Amino acid sequence: MISGSFSNLAWWQRGVVYQIYPRSFQDSNGDGIGDLPGIARRLDYLTWLGIDAIWLSPIFPSPMKDFGYDISNFLDIDPIFGTLADFDALVEDVHSRNLKIILDFVPNHTSDQHPWFQEARRDRRNPRRDWYIWRDPAPDGGPPNNWLSEFGGSAWEYDEATGQYYYHAFLKEQPDLNWRNPEVVRTMHDVLRFWFDRGVDGFRIDVLHHLIEDAQFRDNPLNPEFALGMRPSHALLRVHTVDQPEIQGIITGLRKVADEYPERVLIGEIHLPIERLVTYYGVELSGIHLPFNFNLIGAPWSAAIVREIIATYEAALPRGAWPNWVVGSHDTGRIASRVGANGARLAQMLLLTLRGTPTMYYGEELGMADVPIPAELVQDPFEKNVPGIGVGRDPSRTPMRWTGHNYGDFTTGRPWLPIGQNLAICNVESEAADPNSMLSLTRRLLRLRREEPALCIGDYQGLACDDQSITYLRSREGRRLLVMLNFSEGPHRLPLPAEMPKARLRLSSEANRKLQPVQDSIELHGVEGVVLEAA
Ligand code: GLC
Repeated sequence: MISGSFSNLAWWQRGVVYQIYPRSFQDSNGDGIGDLPGIARRLDYLTWLGIDAIWLSPIFPSPMKDFGYDISNFLDIDPIFGTLADFDALVEDVHSRNLKIILDFVPNHTSDQHPWFQEARRDRRNPRRDWYIWRDPAPDGGPPNNWLSEFGGSAWEYDEATGQYYYHAFLKEQPDLNWRNPEVVRTMHDVLRFWFDRGVDGFRIDVLHHLIEDAQFRDNPLNPEFALGMRPSHALLRVHTVDQPEIQGIITGLRKVADEYPERVLIGEIHLPIERLVTYYGVELSGIHLPFNFNLIGAPWSAAIVREIIATYEAALPRGAWPNWVVGSHDTGRIASRVGANGARLAQMLLLTLRGTPTMYYGEELGMADVPIPAELVQDPFEKNVPGIGVGRDPSRTPMRWTGHNYGDFTTGRPWLPIGQNLAICNVESEAADPNSMLSLTRRLLRLRREEPALCIGDYQGLACDDQSITYLRSREGRRLLVMLNFSEGPHRLPLPAEMPKARLRLSSEANRKLQPVQDSIELHGVEGVVLEAA
């Protein structure tokens, strides 16, 4: 349990967030799609694993064009996932286990089936018209400017009936809300309150940097580095469509709503360079508690680059800002496929020993890899719009693997996405029985974090090292832990730093490594990571 030296920090600083993609976690009714009663059934597992909070990707009513990120009612649960009663029961169950629950807030857009948009498109004078972003056609009848949709093609869709275009940063079925309209702002604030009142502990906010666009609708400039094979939206630099100055006022407003309740957290999905990302903490930290730090996701996997990312991020953080780390999500390829099975073990060590709140994507604790999806089974609209360049997100959204049989016991029906290879080895049941599995490593790391405030909330100090490895110290109240990660495939001898000439091994990524005393230097095996304490 949390000891005294943890107590002055908020739960979202001490804890580990676990992302659940609800469609793929546990099905309870045999329709092949995960649901809330399914999640409830797996809370024992999550408690056993040792995480602190679950974040659920959207569970609200939706035509599912973008699998829940196209919401047609912000104040209910989609029948695919269950009912409001199921949700309330889940919240109670989560809280009774001392866990927290975070929902996904999608403020940038609604579904085109949302009654607000249905009204808005009825006629130009409809009071809801201005809730969305409408423009007259260009003189040639084409779109009002050159803005592109993240999911391919123009970001403008022509509405025959009313003779104007509406803006959609994502699918045409996801029209953008107009955050310059005060009624939109008020209504969306009330959406947050609705769920906070039901006991939700926080929100992950979808594409926060997208909320406001240039008021003059100026064209975006061409991207001089654009090349074939890149996603089509990268043909332009998003100077006028993301990260506009007015966003700061909006995040302060969202934060004020969260602050009406005790100990709530806001986590922002923001894809921007580090120096812009950190501005989302807000002036004097009056903004988002945790602007998601995705820097490890896109980065080439080498010790030198990872070390540089950590140093740059740590240096850019505003005073008092709490860091956070992510290595995988429902929008990117799985870490085990990006950096290999051994690399993923090191990544797990990094995620759980760096300073700041880790967010772990479901299945990462098993080392789940991307599952190749045959063309006829593709579900992701992004892949359907822009085929063939590897933007598809289905491979990292495949069902959680509970056992080695029957679609991993994810469903009694047919799963909405294939289960993939290696099921017999890569599943909770088998890995729980194997002390050297990724699951066992993850549990050992999570336990160590609980035992050692230095690791969980202590200071971070990067230490000098070579091109093959990373070494850092975590310390708190006189307690110091040294983390050493060998990125190279071969054995690698590393000197202990002057600060800690004698040490004891606390944890190795290899379960069978003897926890012996170490003096002056330690030889790490290929792609091994260790945590040491001063002897
Ligand atoms: C975010 C979500 C992604 C979704 C997009 C549009 O990036 O993570 O899954 O498609 O926003 O809502």
